[in-house]
Amino acid sequence: QRTRYYDFHVRLHNVTRQCKTKTILTVNSQFPGPKILAREGDRVLVNVTNHVANNISIHWHGIRQLRSGWADGPAYITQCPIQTGKSYLYNFTITGQRGTLFWHAHISWLRATLYGPLVILPKKNVPYPFPQPYKEVPILFGEWWKADTEAVINQALQTGAGPNISDSFTINGFPGLLYNCSSRDTYTVKVKPGKTYLLRLINAALNNDLFFSIANHSLTVVEADAVYVKPFNTTTLLITPGQTTNVLLHTEPIYPNAKFLMAARPYLTGQGTFDNTTTAGILHYKKPNSSSSSSNTKRPIPLYKPKLPALNDTAFAANFRNRLRSLANAEFPANVPRKVDKKFFFTVGLGANPCPKNQTCQGPNGTKFSASMNNISFIVPTRALLQAHYFGQSKGVLYTTDFPSFPLVPFNYTGTPPNNTFVTNGTKVVVLPFNTTVEVVLQDTSILGAESHPLHLHGFNFFVLGQGFGNFDPMKDPPKFNLADPVERNTVPVPSGGWVAIRFLADNPGVWFMHCHFEVHLSWGLKMAWIVLDGDLPNQKLLPPPSDLPQC
Ligand code: C2O
Repeated sequence: QRTRYYDFHVRLHNVTRQCKTKTILTVNSQFPGPKILAREGDRVLVNVTNHVANNISIHWHGIRQLRSGWADGPAYITQCPIQTGKSYLYNFTITGQRGTLFWHAHISWLRATLYGPLVILPKKNVPYPFPQPYKEVPILFGEWWKADTEAVINQALQTGAGPNISDSFTINGFPGLLYNCSSRDTYTVKVKPGKTYLLRLINAALNNDLFFSIANHSLTVVEADAVYVKPFNTTTLLITPGQTTNVLLHTEPIYPNAKFLMAARPYLTGQGTFDNTTTAGILHYKKPNSSSSSSNTKRPIPLYKPKLPALNDTAFAANFRNRLRSLANAEFPANVPRKVDKKFFFTVGLGANPCPKNQTCQGPNGTKFSASMNNISFIVPTRALLQAHYFGQSKGVLYTTDFPSFPLVPFNYTGTPPNNTFVTNGTKVVVLPFNTTVEVVLQDTSILGAESHPLHLHGFNFFVLGQGFGNFDPMKDPPKFNLADPVERNTVPVPSGGWVAIRFLADNPGVWFMHCHFEVHLSWGLKMAWIVLDGDLPNQKLLPPPSDLPQC
């Protein structure tokens, strides 16, 4: 076990994209932020110092944080934010995980620019269960706004309307040559012919599922959310915000000095603002041996473009999701809980609330957009829930433990919008005894149009047992659940107009956020939290808080 130490200084930095310079929040003046590299079993220490006017907190997305909930990062859930001029040392050990994850700010919309890769290598001398790559390349998808993203969300929250869409998607921080004034702002990776590359794909975009493809190349999916999967080939991937996917890219032995576009654009299911913009990077085959051919090098290098699915290609999306299976072998078993202690049915979706008096709202029919789970729109508390829970304070004041196990208004979507548009607000949580096995069926309500919701759970991986369109059928669907090799991950899309069923073992004491990883839905309240109680044994208890834990 090694200790990896990182210093993160959150600072303002000028970045030019699409011919405009903008001052953004960065870590160490890098955009995207620095890579965290560790091995399975390592301890990671990241000292985050806040040099900006905003409150900051950083989340290590997908890290299980076994008993180290104080290091998880969502503001007002596991910690108060780091205030201007203050520091906080995130301290966690990587247990039983290896693969690609990422880190991002977890307060307001600051993750728009505060994000970076988190790469966990297997333990020393442990190979990957797939061909050893010649090189590894992180590919981060993001979004770029010319405007200040804090202003974008604040305006949306004030008017009750949807926020402005971003000006471009990005690959490793660059919009790419398909956007105006961006041909120089294109991420390029130089490759050699006849090699295997491991691409570590990370969707750090705020509000969009993305299709991704590389012209003339097939990709082999080998891992999702830092868990190995049964390898399969595909020309196109679907990746939601919060998801990570490792793919192998085999470069062709031919194609000397050619360029291939790698491109990503949204998979759109909702009625949100139509966005068909495409971000692109370049896969550039290096010239084989410049000395071997002295011929005319002025010849333009051919550029090949990939074909991406239609923006609303739900059939592709469903098929792609179904192909993801865990390895489920002796070395990497799928430990799916067989017996379920507690079953939940959560509706997730958008709604609209009455416009508060003395306000004018620009949401649907003069209402105000909101988003909810089981008709509860989550209100972020003013102090951190984990602290309140640990010290036994403020139950009933700061938060209540009555988050419903089933929707308050029975849900049955038959084509006409159900009668449960309006939601109540509250800071409601579910309390689980240690080691409870939990099954949650997440059902999209489709009230304001069917929309996919990438649901992310902190503190756990879960198994994805099944998914489907229309209403979940509690009689017919469970017998079809895949208990043999379901994919294990931390973020799963609730299909638009459909449902997904997940299972996890609540073996990690603490307070764990669960939310839609579309930042706009998160802002509108599509979130809740689980409190997992301590077990009886000392090694089943949450560790005490560090002395530098930020205070509110
Ligand atoms: Cu990547 Cu709670 O988030």
